[in-house]
Amino acid sequence: MSELSVNHLLGIKYLNKKDIELIFETADHFKEVINRPIKKVPSLRDITIANLFFENSTRTKLSFELAEKRLSADVINFSASQSSVKKGETLIDTVNNILSMKVDMVVMRHPNPGASVFLSQHVDASIINAGDGAHEHPTQALLDSYSIRERLGEVKGKNVVIVGDILHSRVALSNIYALKLQGANVMVCGPKTLIPKHIDKLGVIVETNLRKALNWCDVANMLRVQNERMEISYFPSTREYTQQFGVNKALLDSLEKKITIMHPGPINRGVEITSDVADSNQAIILDQVQNGVAIRMAVIYLLASKIKP
Ligand code: NCD
Repeated sequence: MSELSVNHLLGIKYLNKKDIELIFETADHFKEVINRPIKKVPSLRDITIANLFFENSTRTKLSFELAEKRLSADVINFSASQSSVKKGETLIDTVNNILSMKVDMVVMRHPNPGASVFLSQHVDASIINAGDGAHEHPTQALLDSYSIRERLGEVKGKNVVIVGDILHSRVALSNIYALKLQGANVMVCGPKTLIPKHIDKLGVIVETNLRKALNWCDVANMLRVQNERMEISYFPSTREYTQQFGVNKALLDSLEKKITIMHPGPINRGVEITSDVADSNQAIILDQVQNGVAIRMAVIYLLASKIKP
């Protein structure tokens, strides 16, 4: 039987191509399951999962919780704003207290890059990174590639541009790793100030002209400007950002071919994309959300099968 090469999902950086293929094949099966009238399977009846969210989340938290419940796992939820973290408890103490209640797996979102790697080295549970600061967001990149595969047949050989705040985006880094592993051609496009200096070392093309980028690509993944991670201004004003890096219907319709539009959410309508683009049939934004549940079921199922009884 095939299994993942890893015991935790800390980042796409730690996966190989076979891992991604296995996750996608498993997600195909779960996607079929969640479209049945009875959407649940009894696979993880003996597994308890803790969702620890030290940073805000809507989609990712709900998606993980739904994935866990559809696998029949026991689920406990914790969010930092209501917890003893505010009373000064360390991350390891918090998690070890939770694990002493016999928890097998931890899904964690944390504002500090590297938090989930750190946790995996100090506690005895399988860890899934649900976003660590501006570092990685592996399940998002997996569901993004899975959605490209669904819409365009395969990821290999496709031209994918990631547009916007590359500097502060964990979605960008995880997508770059995932897309490169699968043989896609990857470009990043945004204001120079929001593109990390040596990003070309990751094998991506850098472009600052949005029209050129869109004419090159098959898929454009539009990112939200991560204002919450900025202490200074990286561009003159939101209006100017939108003029140069926002996609509207007129721009989309003037391109040489029909491209696919993606967005990890939450969307700032009218900033990175207009409503008519977000709601058009070229956008697969809600497919991404739907696929997120199947991808997370696959990841949890595959990692749970590696936990020693
Ligand atoms: C992303 C995130 O949290 O990194 N959202 C998500 O997980 N769906 C992107 C974002 O916040 O802009």
